Amino acid sequence: MNDICVLGNFVADNSFYAKKLPEKGQTVFGTGFQVGPGGKGSNQAIAAARLGSKVNFLGKIGDDNYGKMALELYKKNNLDTKTVFVSKDHPTGVAGIMINKTDGTNSIIVYPGASMEITKDEVSEFSELIINSKVFLTQLEIKTNVTLHALKIARKGEATTILNPAPAIKIGDEFFNYIDYFTPNETEAEFYFGKKIETYEQAKEAGDFFIKKGVKNSIITLGDKGIYFTNKYLNFDLPALNLKNKVLDTTGAGDAFNGALASGLAKKMELKACLKFAIKVSGISVTKKGAADSMPFLKDVS
Ligand code: RIB
Repeated sequence: MNDICVLGNFVADNSFYAKKLPEKGQTVFGTGFQVGPGGKGSNQAIAAARLGSKVNFLGKIGDDNYGKMALELYKKNNLDTKTVFVSKDHPTGVAGIMINKTDGTNSIIVYPGASMEITKDEVSEFSELIINSKVFLTQLEIKTNVTLHALKIARKGEATTILNPAPAIKIGDEFFNYIDYFTPNETEAEFYFGKKIETYEQAKEAGDFFIKKGVKNSIITLGDKGIYFTNKYLNFDLPALNLKNKVLDTTGAGDAFNGALASGLAKKMELKACLKFAIKVSGISVTKKGAADSMPFLKDVS
């Protein structure tokens, strides 16, 4: 049985660092620039693989240099690439990321390119693999009908499903019935809940709302306020990691959390231990630059 199957996107992140992000109509000088592997799905797959899980990444790239970057990344991190489709018609996606050097926060524009072209039929080619995975993890950076199709396939087996609803976009109510773990960040949770979330009490209300919608477990990630967990029987908050090093780049912090959550669930970790593990992995990732490149290895976490 495969540990984890991740469906999602790969894009090449073009990251610009500056002391202050530009306002509308303003040009500022940067303090640094790098191109590296990104895309929420791919970042999550790398996070889980570096934590020792056997991972398949199901996605689509272009037949170009950025596509080669993806394949090299998967080879280096022991990911099985038989599930990576290569498009002859569409380029590999890219993201433009502006990072504030002072606190590591960012603004991102994603051009998904080939990753948005993966089809239901292509996903169906790997139905058996999805069904036989311990965990199926996905996000909203590909077409939503393809994501829903894959979640339905996962439900035919015993895979625990995780939907990281990022970026926040409208999804039909049907979606919620196929989700074991729903993992929005604060802003995404506000989008789906329709109200501000500034306190744990409000996070609890949002969690209860998601459970009523049909998800089995809700985990709202709250940045430096940690996380808020809700299911039918339990609700509690857990604090963020007390960081020893400076925050350099928060790109991919949520992906680190989701990849680690998937890895912990596949290893049948106890719930709170698994959540604390995911918080730690995410905390470590923000002390390094880049997205996939910032994912820690298991030895860095213990
Ligand atoms: O979650 C971070 C990721 O979102 C970046 O790597 C960027 O590519 C965007 O997809």
